[in-house]
Amino acid sequence: MSSSRLAMKFLSQKDMIEAGVTDMSQCIDLMDEAFKLLGVGDYVMGGSTRNSHGQRVWFPKEPKFEGMPKGGPDQRFMSLPGYLGGRFKVCGNKWYGSNVNNPKNHGLPRSILTMTINDAETARPLALMEANILSGMRTGAVVGLSARYLAREDSETLGVIAAGPISKFCTDAIVKAVPSLKKVSVFDINKEAASTFCEELGERHNIDMTVVDSFEDAVKGQDVITSAISGDHTPLFEDIMLKEGSLLTLPGRANVEESYLRSAYIVPDSWEMQKTYKIEGLMLPEDERAIPHIQLHNLVDSGDIQESDIHDLGKIAAGIAKIDRASDKRRYFISNGMILQDIAWAMHVYENAVEKGIGQDLVMWDQPYRV
Ligand SMILES: NC(=O)c1ccc[n+]([C@@H]2O[C@H](COP(=O)([O-])OP(=O)(O)OC[C@H]3O[C@@H](n4cnc5c(N)ncnc54)[C@H](O)[C@@H]3O)[C@@H](O)[C@H]2O)c1
Repeated sequence: MSSSRLAMKFLSQKDMIEAGVTDMSQCIDLMDEAFKLLGVGDYVMGGSTRNSHGQRVWFPKEPKFEGMPKGGPDQRFMSLPGYLGGRFKVCGNKWYGSNVNNPKNHGLPRSILTMTINDAETARPLALMEANILSGMRTGAVVGLSARYLAREDSETLGVIAAGPISKFCTDAIVKAVPSLKKVSVFDINKEAASTFCEELGERHNIDMTVVDSFEDAVKGQDVITSAISGDHTPLFEDIMLKEGSLLTLPGRANVEESYLRSAYIVPDSWEMQKTYKIEGLMLPEDERAIPHIQLHNLVDSGDIQESDIHDLGKIAAGIAKIDRASDKRRYFISNGMILQDIAWAMHVYENAVEKGIGQDLVMWDQPYRV
């Protein structure tokens, strides 16, 4: 019988870095592995469909109680639970809060995250981790993975909308996944943020990065485009702006035109999760409804787009679905983020930490109070 003593690792941000959380090439490979498991169905997420992104604590716009936070765009707490199979066989939960005013008012990142991983059989906690880098890395790496499977192999230009932390992780990953890239154009409403972005990443990747003055300049004629703006604005990517054969890969919110949706390869992170967003969204009062990619759902409901024409990235990674990489058809990748990604990367970093003796042991008990 195994010991009933219970201790888990605590990994601070410094420990996470020492244990390899910033290794983007490795992270893209781990996302590839996690998406292949997703493609064959060896996972479980929370909620009644087993495909919920997570559960949101969403404050009212006008709270009736003193001290209760006020609701607003990118203002939330969120818990993302799930299980990932394959060689992982672990459960995990990411818990975070987001306040879009944090950088300006408090010198803190917009979102602050922690991650726990548990043995799936006994529920024994394995680790509690600082998860800001972990989460940003997996978000970027998934965008990189979309470029690995979807971008044309002759892609030379990348347009980046928003110069925040998430766009930095995404650009790090795209640059790794598309070695033919020669030029990156960056647009942010905060020009200083765009300049800092270009200085920091241009030097790191030794690639030409330029600040551009408008959204259009960062989109028109680009081979790959990514966007991660926060706040209440939702950009519209007009059909005419998007080049033949280009990849629009979106970790952030965006609108596209119907004509684009009808003509592009549509590749979500998980269509089942996107459908669950809709089921859960319809339960909210109309003025509080926020269903990602509702336009796509409407086209599917009207029969204009067949579900069979929507190819999950995991199915492409697992070889179950195919797109023609060389074709002129445009590719539209939508990513809302899944706990499976966090679990895969958390397990990798945790195993490194155990092997190298990094982090503190937190003892929960020597003997459980009651069994
Ligand atoms: N899909 C996923 O898995 C995933 C994971 C994490 C975050 N996100 C999303 O990514 C987004 C960005 O996250 P972040 O942490 O980098 O946010 P952030 O607030 O730190 O940075 C966002 C940047 O967007 C810029 N911006 C705002 N409005 C703009 C506009 N209209 N045009 C151009 N730039 C604009 C801001 O100036 C800022 O530099 C968030 O909305 C978040 O929900 C997605």
